[in-house]
Amino acid sequence: MKADVLLGLQWGDEGKGKIVDVLTPKYNVIARFQGGPNAGHTLIFDGKKHVLHTIPSGIFRDNTLNVVGNGVVVDPVIFKKEIDALFERGVDPTKSLVISRKAHLIMPTHGLLDAASEQAKGKAKIGSTLKGIGPTYMDKTGRNGLRVGDIESPHFKERYEALRAKHVRMLKQYPEYSYDLSQYEDAWLAAVESLKNFKLIDSEHVLNNALNDGHGILAEGAQGTMLDIDFGTYPYVTSSNTITAGACTGLGVAPNKIGEVFGIFKAYCTRVGSGPFPTELEDATGEKLREAGMEFGATTGRPRRCGWLDLPQLKYAVMVNGVTQLCMMKADVLGEFDEIQVCTHYMHNGEKIDYLPYGINPDEVQPVYETFEGWPGDLTGLRKVENIPASLMSYVRMIEDVVGVKVSILSVGPDREQTLLLNPDLA
Ligand code: GDP
Ligand code: IMO
Ligand code: MG
Repeated sequence: MKADVLLGLQWGDEGKGKIVDVLTPKYNVIARFQGGPNAGHTLIFDGKKHVLHTIPSGIFRDNTLNVVGNGVVVDPVIFKKEIDALFERGVDPTKSLVISRKAHLIMPTHGLLDAASEQAKGKAKIGSTLKGIGPTYMDKTGRNGLRVGDIESPHFKERYEALRAKHVRMLKQYPEYSYDLSQYEDAWLAAVESLKNFKLIDSEHVLNNALNDGHGILAEGAQGTMLDIDFGTYPYVTSSNTITAGACTGLGVAPNKIGEVFGIFKAYCTRVGSGPFPTELEDATGEKLREAGMEFGATTGRPRRCGWLDLPQLKYAVMVNGVTQLCMMKADVLGEFDEIQVCTHYMHNGEKIDYLPYGINPDEVQPVYETFEGWPGDLTGLRKVENIPASLMSYVRMIEDVVGVKVSILSVGPDREQTLLLNPDLA
């Protein structure tokens, strides 16, 4: 067996949580491989909405093992809140959720360092979710970090205090930033204790054994390709590899054990936080997209920046991820428009190009649009592939032709049921 991967092809919030939930019945294991509580994955079914941050999106389905992989960074306090919310929904995750010992812990001081660094950057801030993601990955690569497996050690508290002291020294670099650490620490230490209610595993063994036993694994990405630390719009990115390769390092699954790669994109584009976004619409059309798509962050509630679909960007994401199947989300939202614009090329140094160059700031690329016929009307009741409007189908075919990969899933609303499977193998 090989592990399939599902990840975002744009700037995050493409609808990964929804599609993981839809596909979960086909798999035995759902495994998050990077990111942490900066993610907000929304699932809607039976008329109820649920947002997951650290916990894999397979958690609501029976007979599924949900793995928090080694590449993830875990904030015990947020994790505990997520667990409590699951119990409130009548879901007991203690048996179906396991955590890699090699996952890193986000400490309260990581959050403080994140906030202090952002404050010091002023206008140049990344627009971080302030969950401590960057500082935690810095400690990981700097070889200072605390891992989930360390909570089993009798020296945990000492190690925590040593790293906290280092962070406090670092915070002195930001004299204008004031904070009160005591306010967070007790809750954090208590939440660390409650992590012990879950089975801590050596996830690389568990996952490879599962594959050897013929069990299906779906690796769930967080963020999106344009937020990847290497291939995103650096420095306006997150601090992990969000691309397919991140599933290998974030789970311990070898590259030759990766099977299908599901790449998810919205029928338009959004971004939350700072950084370049070539097709951004800072006008009434952008506002209309935001309202129709309810584009407000699932983690921070911030309004998302909105714009048209960007094909050079999408092609780039398909390339670096080795996408084998596409999922197009939010087709219903474009039902608000008679005509739709799509960026097919960029003007770059006076030349018309169809690829993503090194820099995509406004002075480096200017989008070139083509107009396509829309599919005005309400699509949210659409359930049959044969009833897909012709203009929507030709939009899909146009994208497939440009990026060279077929659209397997078409999403026409946030609910689990509002999903059309164009690839009959998924039915
Ligand atoms: P994720 O981070 O990739 O899991 O995506 P988010 O949950 O942050 O954001 C996606 C948002 O779009 C959520 O509010 C979903 O409920 C919603 N959504 C997902 N698919 C569709 C769709 O096809 N149509 C509409 N209108 N909303 C959708
Ligand atoms: P999901 O998994 C959208 C953005 C932040 C900021 C940048 C860095 O729900 O798609 P960080 O907190 O990681 O240091 O922030 O990345 N960002 C996301 N944007 N969806 C996400 O996750 C995101 N996670 C981080 O807004 O611009
Ligand atoms: Mg999200």
